[in-house]
Amino acid sequence: MYTPSQFPSTSVSVDLNALAQNVAHVRRFAPRSEVLAVVKANAYGHGALEVTRALQQLAVHRFAVATVEEGMALRQDGIQDAILVMGATLPSQFQTLVAHRLTPVLYRADMVPAFAVAVPSDATPYPVHIKIETGMGRLGLLPQEIPDLAGMPFFRATLRLEGLMTHLADADNPDAAHTEQQLAGYQQSLDTVHQRGLSPPLTHAANSAAIMTYPASLYSAVRPGIMLYGYHTLSNARSAPELHPILSWNATIAHLHNIQPGDSVSYNRTFVASRPSRIAVLPVGYADGYNRLLSNRGMVLIGGRRAPVVGRVCMDMTMVDVTDIPGVQVGHDAILIGQQGQERITAADLAAWQQTIPYEVLCAIGQRVPRHYLPLRPGIEPPSPTQ
Ligand SMILES: Cc1ncc(COP(=O)(O)O)c(C=O)c1O
Repeated sequence: MYTPSQFPSTSVSVDLNALAQNVAHVRRFAPRSEVLAVVKANAYGHGALEVTRALQQLAVHRFAVATVEEGMALRQDGIQDAILVMGATLPSQFQTLVAHRLTPVLYRADMVPAFAVAVPSDATPYPVHIKIETGMGRLGLLPQEIPDLAGMPFFRATLRLEGLMTHLADADNPDAAHTEQQLAGYQQSLDTVHQRGLSPPLTHAANSAAIMTYPASLYSAVRPGIMLYGYHTLSNARSAPELHPILSWNATIAHLHNIQPGDSVSYNRTFVASRPSRIAVLPVGYADGYNRLLSNRGMVLIGGRRAPVVGRVCMDMTMVDVTDIPGVQVGHDAILIGQQGQERITAADLAAWQQTIPYEVLCAIGQRVPRHYLPLRPGIEPPSPTQ
């Protein structure tokens, strides 16, 4: 079960066929909704361009990012499909946004006239989405601001209300009360917009948790993020589908050495050996996104067995105890996230060890870690989720 490392140092491998399976799950839950794939934050650390291109092959043609810069980067790499910028934008960015044909989310009434100014007067009406604040406590117009907004003349000339959206704060909570309240607020705003004669074709509220658990949240589009990458944060008690983590992360053992009882490992001597021990040095550290909170807590897989992290995780190196794993050699693979033999470590495990959520573990994987991609098998259709 010892795997000689394919790649030097540390690297990530992303299986785009597993992405296809997760897309199939989204479509099974939301068969009548268009998929607006969330590829912000470098596609949650997986590589925005490669993930976006694979999603295009899987017939996904709408993407969402957080910043104008993320949208520009995709445009510069040749992505022509619709890209929604969901995060905070400043009026000073509006012209750049228009120049790159990005679609803004407007979340304050005064953004509407300010954005209209940035649109060339001879252009066809420019698509915008309006965000309603229904209980996330973040960005968005309040439902009571909607009547005035929908009456604005801009939506009959310069701008086209393409989308109306809200964001759910608590859809992974088994207690549905807050989500139901948010959805009611959203529906009320949508009704108001309709009564004022506007009918945005893209209505969207559902993130991954809502897609999987709230059929009432499935409007004409859905915004899956984490489930595309194979994770969810639903509590175990609730039924979640077999999502496929699409990313694995390895490091090649760079060095091995033996230490004696009383010897210590790494900064500040937080690990002191109580027995003769064999220590493997991995060329990965917190600068690569292997969090320092994993010091003396994390595990990696070597030879199909679990090896504990010992001592402090350093900026570029991490030490693990391989005393109980015979036959380990320099050049063997250590798996930080992924499967080896019967054992598996997921981003959710790392998240539990460092008291966060899988989102943060994935997004934190550093820029200097090379990403390799298992391409979609030629002609692959999104497989049915029962497979
Ligand atoms: C506005 C918005 N929509 C959708 C998503 C996707 O959420 P998830 O990754 O939980 O599916 C996010 C992610 O944070 C978001 O900010």
